[in-house]
Amino acid sequence: MKSLLLCLGILLVSAHGHSADLAKGQALSSQCSVCHGKNGIAKDPESPNLAGQGAYYLEKAMVDYQKGMRQDRRMSIIAQALSLEDIKNLAAWYAAFELTVKEPSL
Ligand code: HEC
Repeated sequence: MKSLLLCLGILLVSAHGHSADLAKGQALSSQCSVCHGKNGIAKDPESPNLAGQGAYYLEKAMVDYQKGMRQDRRMSIIAQALSLEDIKNLAAWYAAFELTVKEPSL
């Protein structure tokens, strides 16, 4: 039993890779805040909110801009300057915001 738990532990740790660094994500996010807001809630009407969005989705969006699978006159340029590590850290940072939602009443 002990060795099974140990195996599971190792599997979990290795599946996680080196985990994202929130502090680095926060530092990088200062260059995003003009459009996406300091707290990930956009003030610019053309920019989407990033706060509370899934890390996988955010990461994929940035990689897509980088590879040209998704194009935008601003994001395609911005994404070019990011390393994959930057992307992971930024995605983790915005995904870590907790949102509360309230359904509209009719
Ligand atoms: C000059 C304004 C601007 C800046 C600065 C900016 N963005 Fe954006 N971002 C946008 C706009 C506009 C879109 C929507 C583009 C589109 O329609 O595809 C967008 C889209 C995105 C998306 C896709 C979101 C979704 O819901 O699909 C991500 C992720 C993102 N930006 C991350 C970042 C990060 C991280 C930074 C900082 C490194 C950053 N952006 C800086 C304007 C900006």
